[in-house]
Amino acid sequence: MKTGILSAMEEEFTLLLSEIKNQKKTSLGMREYIEGTLWGQDVVLVFSQWGKTAAASTTANLINVFHIDRLVFTGVAGGLDANAKIGDIVIAERLYHHDVDASPFKRRYYVPLIGENGVVADKKTSDELALAANRFVKDIHQYISDEDIAEFSLSNVCVHRKNIATGDFFVKTEEVRNRIMNDLPDMYAVEMEGAAVAQVCWEHKLPFAVMRTISDTANEHSPMDYPKFLHRVASIYSLHIMKEFLTAK
Ligand code: ADE
Repeated sequence: MKTGILSAMEEEFTLLLSEIKNQKKTSLGMREYIEGTLWGQDVVLVFSQWGKTAAASTTANLINVFHIDRLVFTGVAGGLDANAKIGDIVIAERLYHHDVDASPFKRRYYVPLIGENGVVADKKTSDELALAANRFVKDIHQYISDEDIAEFSLSNVCVHRKNIATGDFFVKTEEVRNRIMNDLPDMYAVEMEGAAVAQVCWEHKLPFAVMRTISDTANEHSPMDYPKFLHRVASIYSLHIMKEFLTAK
């Protein structure tokens, strides 16, 4: 079983890279794909770069050039639902493009080949990832310092199985956040790649799961040190959750 691990953040990719054994590096399409073994499992690591096109092109290469058997995509997201707190984890159930609109020719949110209902993530891979995330959360004090737990209020982190909305821009105003929440009320978090990865996996019938750490509340009220959060929290989450996922019996 070869697992493609696609990272939306360079910090996550770099940490995983420090653990990989038997590395083989291939440069393709301005990305570096790293084949090797992580905790005894065959993997291919790549940093997707940001946005839907970048993520889709990397996903297509993981499938068609590196012949992965399943894909896990990790990164951060803005919380939409009031229960999606900074530091919580969302494992995607269904992924939607919130910025696709070809009306009046097609109904809003209609995506070629897929339709209007988004793409459902693979249940088995997502179940396994959620178990790994829950194990990590239980032991979070082993991996994140007390200082960072206090600074980012991580003492009561939850793992959610909810829907994710994707679009090619960072949501940073209440106005845009409200528009997405009004139009797509069952969306829990927003990010910039997941639905594109899901679409390519669906087209190729490849099992996939998407995991996002909530980094902000997708509005003007996200008073946090973003680089510090990525470095000291979100990328640590990804590393240890991937370890739990890949080493699960
Ligand atoms: N990724 C993390 N936070 C985000 C936001 N607010 N909008 C889009 N993508 C994100």
